[in-house]
Amino acid sequence: MIEAIDLTKRYEDGVLALDRLQLTVTEGEIYCLLGANGAGKTTAIDLFLGFIEPSAGQALINGVDVHSDPLNAKRYVGYLSENVKLYGNLTARQNLDFFARVSQHGPVGQQECAQLLRQVGLPQRAFKQQVKKFSKGMRQKLGIAIAMIKDAPSLLLDEPMSGLDPKAAADFVATLKDLRRQGKAILMSTHDIFRAKELADRVGIMKEGRKVVEKSRTELKREDLERLYLEYMKGDEEQEAANTVHKLRPA
Ligand SMILES: Nc1ncnc2c1ncn2[C@@H]1O[C@H](COP(=O)(O)OP(=O)(O)O)[C@@H](O)[C@H]1O
Ligand SMILES: [Mg+2]
Repeated sequence: MIEAIDLTKRYEDGVLALDRLQLTVTEGEIYCLLGANGAGKTTAIDLFLGFIEPSAGQALINGVDVHSDPLNAKRYVGYLSENVKLYGNLTARQNLDFFARVSQHGPVGQQECAQLLRQVGLPQRAFKQQVKKFSKGMRQKLGIAIAMIKDAPSLLLDEPMSGLDPKAAADFVATLKDLRRQGKAILMSTHDIFRAKELADRVGIMKEGRKVVEKSRTELKREDLERLYLEYMKGDEEQEAANTVHKLRPA
């Protein structure tokens, strides 16, 4: 389970990047965070990963407070960002094995490795290929395989499908559905409204550090998510003024 309780981040320069976020992602659920660039999505995910410290509130992974017990919390979470860091001179298999070793999982056997790579939709011929020759889609597929090694119950994905071609994106979506069936709690930021609507059990729209609306899958069936999104992105002048005052208020 992934849970934010009044999670707040004000960066050192005073920017209120995340404002009292409340959010819960339970087992077998995909939660999509939408929002313009700068809305606070990465900040939220980085707080769950313990990359940065909250100014207030709590980020919990499987009930463990990330800030007070980071090592324990890390055991329960897999992570993939938009640009996964891989070793270009190593093959897909070798990368997987390397990350398995550093993630306390220990070396991955041939079979486990092949199974993981197949599961994420990497073609067989790519298993032994140096990663520097990989397309963006292949890199992200390997990235999700790496995030899956630990078999952690929670997954944090920061724009994992940005820049993927339609086939790679469809494969990626299939992998996420698999993971949901396995009971993972998945929090994913994305700009892809179409995919969010297809995948998400819950969608949260963020604006200037705040979650301005949240909709369940059932509610989304009756709503036009794109229209809703654009509605919330509209520059309502009174709202803008209020936000500015709010942002400038001392912490
Ligand atoms: N390290 C940082 N220091 C100061 N401000 C930051 C830092 N990282 C992000 N911000 C600011 O925090 C806000 C939210 O950014 P971010 O979480 O990256 O949004 P998103 O991922 O939704 O695009 C933005 O105003 C951004 O400029
Ligand atoms: Mg971001």
